[in-house]
Amino acid sequence: MVVSIKSAREIELMRESCRLLSQVHDALGKAIRPGMSTLDIDKLGDKMIRDMGCVPNFKDYHGYPASICVSVNDEVVHGIPNKSRILQEGDIVSLDAGLIYHGYHSDAARTHAVGKISAEAEKLIAVTKQSFFEGIKMAKAGNHLYDISNAIAAYVTGFGYGIVRDLVGHGIGTSLHEDPQIPNFAQRRRGIRLQPGMTLAIEPMINMGGYEVKWLDDDWTVVTADGSLSAHYENTILITEGEPEILTLSKE
Ligand code: MF3
Ligand code: CO
Repeated sequence: MVVSIKSAREIELMRESCRLLSQVHDALGKAIRPGMSTLDIDKLGDKMIRDMGCVPNFKDYHGYPASICVSVNDEVVHGIPNKSRILQEGDIVSLDAGLIYHGYHSDAARTHAVGKISAEAEKLIAVTKQSFFEGIKMAKAGNHLYDISNAIAAYVTGFGYGIVRDLVGHGIGTSLHEDPQIPNFAQRRRGIRLQPGMTLAIEPMINMGGYEVKWLDDDWTVVTADGSLSAHYENTILITEGEPEILTLSKE
């Protein structure tokens, strides 16, 4: 396993890549409304990324056919945008997006409400987001990687939700997926020691029901095995000497 430590120059490029991605997420979040297709979201995101002079890193990644992963309700991640998949009032929709700026990758995900949603769905989205923040409280130089995993798991488990195990967070930099893998469920070991200059994508995927997932026949879309709702929240972060920097979070 090789965990890259970014130089000051590389950190500047990561910051800019992530700042641009945060703008894409802000715009997509504002655009969500009932009646739009999941392909409309992909087109909007793809255009915005290219207009920034960047490259969407998901497009053609191991054959993935779009720039934005759009996952509705029981779809956990990697939903494929489709012009006939229309968002309905009451749906929840997870948007996962990433881009490349001067060779440096960013990656972030948000789950949004489509119009008015149930209180249960609101809570799932809020807990998933908060679990990321609980996790990164531990994301400090000198701590161990799985301190993050264990903090996410300890928080989420209290709500009785299922933590997806088959997909994990990851290092990120000149590739979308670098070492190390970052599970969101409890670990027996401590994992590697965190060092300043590591850039990590922390991304809890949380199901209202059981943790089990399955893949649809399109070989991409991951859905909950029991059909329950699922939420996703992800940011690219930088380990520093002090508090972690959340690189894909805008001031909005
Ligand atoms: N954010 C996703 C991840 O880290 C990337 C989507 S993979 C793609 O796994 F193939 F859909 F691009
Ligand atoms: Co990711």
